Formats: sequence, structure tokens, C-alpha cells
Amino acid sequence: MSKLRTETVTEVHHWNDSLFTIKTTRDDGLRFRNGEFAMIGMIIDGKPLLRAYSIASPNYEEHLEFFSIKVPNGPLTSRLQHIKVGDELLVSKKPTGTLVLDDLLPGKHLYMLSTGTGLAPFLSLARDPEVYERFEKIILVHAVRNVDDLAYREMFEEQLPNDELFGEWYREKFIYYPTTTREEFRNTGRITDLMESGKLFSDIGLPPINKEDDRVLICGSMPFNADVAKILDGFGLTLSPRMGVQADYVIERAFVG
Ligand code: A2P
Repeated sequence: MSKLRTETVTEVHHWNDSLFTIKTTRDDGLRFRNGEFAMIGMIIDGKPLLRAYSIASPNYEEHLEFFSIKVPNGPLTSRLQHIKVGDELLVSKKPTGTLVLDDLLPGKHLYMLSTGTGLAPFLSLARDPEVYERFEKIILVHAVRNVDDLAYREMFEEQLPNDELFGEWYREKFIYYPTTTREEFRNTGRITDLMESGKLFSDIGLPPINKEDDRVLICGSMPFNADVAKILDGFGLTLSPRMGVQADYVIERAFVG
């Protein structure tokens, strides 16, 4: 039995020259936890070419959504970026991943730290009711180079605060903290620097990250993940050693290719 299903593209949105979002149909049988990734791809030269993509849509939605960068000469993204409504997209039947609430110990504040398309799993989790039930504050930090790389900014600034289901919870609990590193903006600087200097915490009005209260989900490039992990270790937090084991923080790499 094939591990893949064929879905149909229902929407494509290009945020700028390098970032785009694809929406597809979703098979009724697909089950996943918010924060997980699927393998997605296309048939190229007669064979499936697949990459891991976090599912950006929450698991109760009828469609699937994926947020992608266009990697210059990337084997998959150089083709995926031309995908159109009505085209087919291969999606694996069994999503998996480490960025799941199940693997975090109880806590007061949930930090979701991302760079670039590492935002994707948090798009799903930001619309997960369990996140709001389990945590008093949810802090989403998204670091990008330029202001126009802040995809989904409108969703966090305009839509979710006014959402029929989530609006009240969101306004009370959610802190969206976008930051840029190569262009002026209301917040600037790398997440690592903002954590080490303490500026992130003074800006959002919370104490520095500590083992007692704080839980963290990390999704970015390998060097970003490693640098943030080092800082969290310094704050006394413990990394989940493997799937299914609860700890203070978990890591997923933002996959590109
Ligand atoms: P910077 O502009 O200072 O490199 P990229 O577009 O290269 O994937 O980077 C996305 C964002 O992640 C940028 O804001 C970049 O900052 C930041 N970044 C890249 N590597 C690291 C790292 N090791 N630690 C913290 N931030 C990083």
C-alpha cells in the first residue's frame, strides 16, 4: 500500500519573491497532531520527490496548508513554486514530528521560537484550543531578515484577535513578537541576542525564561536551533531526548530543499 496520497491544490499565495503558501484538499482519513510535519512533493522524472513540511493548518480544518521558501535551484521548491490551482500534490499518510504539546511538561508560558518558514508548525498550534487551555501566555517569536518576510503577520495582527472562536483567548493570552534583522522595524535583532540581552522579556513584560514556568518549541535552521538550545540549557531547561518523553523544550528543524 502506498504511503502517499494525491491531493489537489486549491489555493496558492505568493508572499514575496521567496515565500509562498499552498493549500490543498485533505483526505478524510488523514490524522495528525498540530505541530507535526508531512512529507510532500511531486512526481519528477517519473519518481516522487518529497520533502518534510510542517502542516500549517490546524488539524480540525478541512484543507491542508504548507508554507514554503523558494530555494534557488532547490530540487523540489524550484518546481513547487510554479504549482497552480488544480495541480496535484503528494502528501504522506502519516505525519509525525517533535513539536507537539504532548512532549512538554505542564507550564505557565509557552514560547514558540521560529525563523523564516520555521513559523509553519506554529501557524497550526496558534489555532489549537489545547494551547490556550494549557498555558496562561503563548509567545510567538518570528525572526526574519526583512519586513516583507513576515508572512502571516496579518493573521496574527488582524484576524486571530477578531476570530469568532479564538478572539477572546487570543487577545488575553497570545503575544505575537515579529522581529527583523536586516531592516528597520518595531522590533529588531536575532532571537538569540534578544534572549541573551533580556530585551525580549522586557519588551513582552515577562520574567526571563526559567524552568519553573516556561516551555519552549523551537523551529528554525540547524544553527538557530543549536544556538537557542544552548541558551535554554543555560537557563536550566531540559530538552526532550526523544519523541514521547516530556521535558521543558523540543526542537524541529525548518526543512528546506
Ligand atoms: P541574520 O539576518 O542576522 O542572519 P535566514 O533567512 O538566513 O534563514 O535567516 C532567518 C532569520 O534567522 C534571520 O533573521 C537571521 O538573522 C536569523 N538567524 C540565522 N541564523 C541564526 C542563528 N544561528 N541564531 C539566531 N538567529 C539566526
